[in-house]
Order: sequence, then structure tokens, then C-alpha cells
Amino acid sequence: MVANDTPASTFRYNEKPVYTTSNGAPIDNPEGWQRPGTIGPLLLQDFHLIDALAHFDRERIPERVVHAKGAGAYGVFEVTHDITDLTSINMFDTVGKKTNCVARFSTVGGEKGSADTARDPRGFAIKFYTEEGNWDWVYNNTPVFFIRDPTKFPLFIHTQKRNPQTNLKDATMFWDYLSTHQEAIHQVMTLFSDRGTPYSYRHMNGYSGHTHKWTKPDGSFVYTQVHLKTDQGIKTFTGEEAAKMSAENPDWNTQDLFEAIQKGDFPSWTVYVQVLTPEEAEKFRWNIFDLTKVWPQKDVPLRPIGKFTLNKNPENYFAEIEQVAFSPSHLVPGVEPSIDPVLQSRLFSYPDTHRHRLGVNYQQIPVNAPLKAFNPFQRDGAMVVNGNYGANPNYPSSYRQLTYKPVKPTVTHETWSGHAVHELFQVVNDDDFVQAKGLWDVLGRTPGQQDNFVSNVAGHLSAAHQDTRNRTYAMFMRVDPALGVSIQESTEKLVK
Ligand code: NDP
Ligand code: HEM
Repeated sequence: MVANDTPASTFRYNEKPVYTTSNGAPIDNPEGWQRPGTIGPLLLQDFHLIDALAHFDRERIPERVVHAKGAGAYGVFEVTHDITDLTSINMFDTVGKKTNCVARFSTVGGEKGSADTARDPRGFAIKFYTEEGNWDWVYNNTPVFFIRDPTKFPLFIHTQKRNPQTNLKDATMFWDYLSTHQEAIHQVMTLFSDRGTPYSYRHMNGYSGHTHKWTKPDGSFVYTQVHLKTDQGIKTFTGEEAAKMSAENPDWNTQDLFEAIQKGDFPSWTVYVQVLTPEEAEKFRWNIFDLTKVWPQKDVPLRPIGKFTLNKNPENYFAEIEQVAFSPSHLVPGVEPSIDPVLQSRLFSYPDTHRHRLGVNYQQIPVNAPLKAFNPFQRDGAMVVNGNYGANPNYPSSYRQLTYKPVKPTVTHETWSGHAVHELFQVVNDDDFVQAKGLWDVLGRTPGQQDNFVSNVAGHLSAAHQDTRNRTYAMFMRVDPALGVSIQESTEKLVK
């Protein structure tokens, strides 16, 4: 605190603080308003009232353009296994080391007031306050995604949101996009399985989805994919149960997380990493920069790293969860993004949206502030609340020298040259259906899961236009002919 070392939030319930105006002047009646005499008109000089109305008028900030509905909490990450052979990331350097963090879970497509149990991927974001800066894991509960071309993100998201004319969710738009961009099929298979409607945020996994590089000071690196597996066990709703919960308690997942932590039932996840050396990656069956593909676990086993536990609720939702700002570009020494173009685009998009949603100084908001940062060349701008680096020079001054810590570049594995082209990642081909079929077979291991999948798709698809339905049946036939037929039969029975 610069000028006031007693912030309002430090008052406790058993104290009786003096009520004041926002500029700190005591005022006798919080509900009164100023006027001359007993029935005179309202006076513009009533700062208390005018300020209260003007502040209220500005209570809303833009909601997140995606992932608007969410819940979050604080926690800790503890290293359980030595992985110093893989990376020098400070957070992992000693078994037993603990790093504090804040997490936020979310749905993707709905607005801030939408139902928690909607069929949707779930966001799974964590900010680790490491000794070498904040490291954000901005993950989902699905290991793959709908796109591998970043340009498609706004287009795809538009089709999952509301029709520009009717302002309604629109099944034709939804399936028209998916059936004409069939690289999404693997994610569609995940979304319409019962994992598309998790029972709670505590009962789902998290996945990096993207490939990253974990590096060492000698310049070597490995490619990685991170998995967080719920220690509570996977638990899902059927489509019917999720719809019922949406109507009865649209905030169910938010409530479940808060209440579990409040009663000391702390949810935890075991964290694993999949690792490929650059040489292995070159020979690998799958393109590791294609976000629509997983690394099969029989080929690339999960290696345990640590445990992530949530153990403290926020004191104030808006301050600590609405204002938390994650970005895949908030990285620390020892980790680098891969060239996955979707990841590369996300590196730009998140800080950009934070500057719009929270302001240029969003990193100064307490929940976002790193343990220590010294960046006096960034000055001024709206809402400076950290003292603005006082009298420190705002350029690399010879009168007040700084220490610059060397950061070694990784040994080049990716060397690029060629003409600038403007193309897709890859044209959809039969390979895009192999892992989708793999998941169809995984569903077959648990009785009822394949039937639920078919009925989940049919219930949604039946509201789409006939030609879109037909194109979608053909898409599912490419996964498995019997699946396509079964979806067609179930869907057509529901068409009104
Ligand atoms: P494995 O048999 O080694 O692993 C199957 C994976 O599927 C497990 O991670 C399991 O997660 C997960 N799974 C089980 N049921 C479902 C479901 N209803 N929806 C989504 N995932 C489920 O197989 P592979 O590694 O060869 O992968 C086969 C398919 O499993 C893939 O095509 C992919 O769709 C899916 N999958 C693969 C993952 C990976 O990283 N390889 C990660 C998650 C899913 P759990 O152990 O938590 O039950
Ligand atoms: C939120 C953009 C792909 C996970 C967001 C937000 C934007 C965005 C603008 C809102 C952020 C905010 O206002 O705080 C994009 C773009 C993508 C993309 C442009 C692709 C080009 C992905 C992928 C994942 C993901 C592939 C997961 C692997 C998340 C999560 C959040 C989020 C978890 C919510 C973070 C929070 O809780 O505050 N995304 N996204 N996104 N995104 Fe993405």
C-alpha cells in the first residue's frame, strides 16, 4: 500500500468501521439524500449520492469473450518426483517444493450468467506464483481442440454463440461449421461423450493440449504435454441429468467447488508429463504441433511430476477471480512455446484481451501480481497502483544499473526458411478420423457410453437443417460406419 495501509478488506466482521464517502469523509446516513427543507429537490452537491450512482453505473467490466462463466480458488503445487533430467524450471527443482497458485475453471461458450452444466469443454487455468515469475497453465479438460488453424478461432466461436439475427443458440450454425471443418471431429467426439458434461470441476482432468518445450541451461530441450488427473475420480452427468441441473441450479459447479473447499474437502489432481525428444518427435506417427491430436499413452507414457491441490476460497469473487488474467505467454525460464500456430496466436490474444478487459496495468492487480517483478521501463497508464517505480529511471540508465540475468536460447531444432504462404495447417484427410475412432473404441469399454454419445448428438443435431444433418451423418460415418447410421436413425426420429 502506498498511502493507506488499512485497506477496506482488512476490516473484520467483529469490528465496526466508520462509514465514509469514497473520499473518506464520515457521513451520518448511508441511505439519505440531500435537499433543501423537508420536500425540496435533490441537490447536485450531494457527492455521496452522485458518487454512489456513478460508481454503480460502472460496476460491470467486459465479460471474457469466451470462458465468461467460471469459478476459482487458491491452492498449492507440490513436486513429488524428480524431473531435473528433463528441465531446469525452477518450480520443479526439488522434490517436496511447494508453489502457491490460483485456479479458475469455466465453461467456454456461455455468458457470465449461463448454466454451469452446459455441454461444452471446460477451461482449466492455473497461475503459479513461482520464484522466477508467474507461470500460467491455460488448459482445458479435453486433450485436443476444434481447430489447428488460429484464424478459425473467432469464426468457430461465433458458431457456438448466438445467431446474429435471432440472438438464439443455433444448431444449424453449430453443425454447419463442424461438418465443414472436419478436423474438429476428435474434439466433437469428446464433447458429445459424457465428459462434455462433467459432474463438477473437481471431477475432471486438465490437459495442456499444446506441445511445449521444456529446456535446460545447456540448451537442450524436450517436447512435453501436461496432464492433470483428478484424484476425485472422473464423474459425469448424462445429457438428461445435465439439462435437469441447468434448470434446477445453473450455478451447481460453482457451488460444489466453493462448498467442498469451505468444509476442508480439498480437491487435488496428480500431475503428469508426456515427453518426446526432438529426435523422437521427428519420427513420431503424429504431428506434435497439430492440436487436434493426442500422443497415445502406450507410445508416450505419463510420467508423474507432482500434486496440485485447491485449499482456499477467494475472499472476494470479483477482485480475485473475475480479475484474474491468465495467458499462455506468461512463461518462466525453462519453458518455451512450441511452434503450434494456435499456441503462438494465443500468446498474443490473452494479454491483448486483458488490456481491453482489465486495463494496461492488469499485472498490478493483486491476484495477477508476481511475487517479485522489477520492470520500471513500463510506466504510467490507467490505474497504476504499485507506486509506479517511484524515482527509478524509466530507461536503462548508467546512473542506476540493473542486473540482467542471462537466459540461454535452446539449441535450434526448428530452423525455418521459405516463401511466406497463406495456407491451412493441413487439408482434412483420413488421418483426422483415426484418433476419433480410437475414442469411440474407448467409449465402448464402459457400458452405456456409446449409447449416451449417440443420444447426446441426436438431441442437439435434430434441431439443425436437413442438409446440415446429412453432412454431419456423413462425417460420423467416416469415424465408424455403424456410428454414422446410428446417429442418423436416432436424430431423424427426433426431427419435428
Ligand atoms: P489409452 O487407452 O492409453 O487412454 C485412454 C484415455 O482416454 C485415458 O486418458 C482416459 O482418461 C481417456 N478416456 C476414457 N474415457 C474417456 C471419455 N469418455 N472421453 C474422453 N477420454 C476418455 O488410449 P490412447 O492414449 O491411445 O488414447 C485413445 C483415445 O483416448 C484418444 O483418441 C483420445 O481421444 C482419448 N484420450 C487420450 C489421451 C492422451 O493423451 N493420449 C488423453 C485423454 C483422452 P482417464 O485415464 O482419465 O480415464
Ligand atoms: C479464455 C482466446 C484457444 C483455454 C480465452 C479468452 C480469450 C481466448 C480472448 C478470454 C480471456 C480473458 O478475457 O481473460 C483464445 C484464442 C484461441 C484459444 C484466440 C485460439 C487461437 C484456447 C485453447 C485452450 C484455451 C486451445 C486450451 C487448451 C482457455 C481458458 C480460458 C480461455 C482456460 C479461460 C481463462 C480464465 O479462466 O480466465 N481464450 N483461446 N483457449 N481460453 Fe482461450
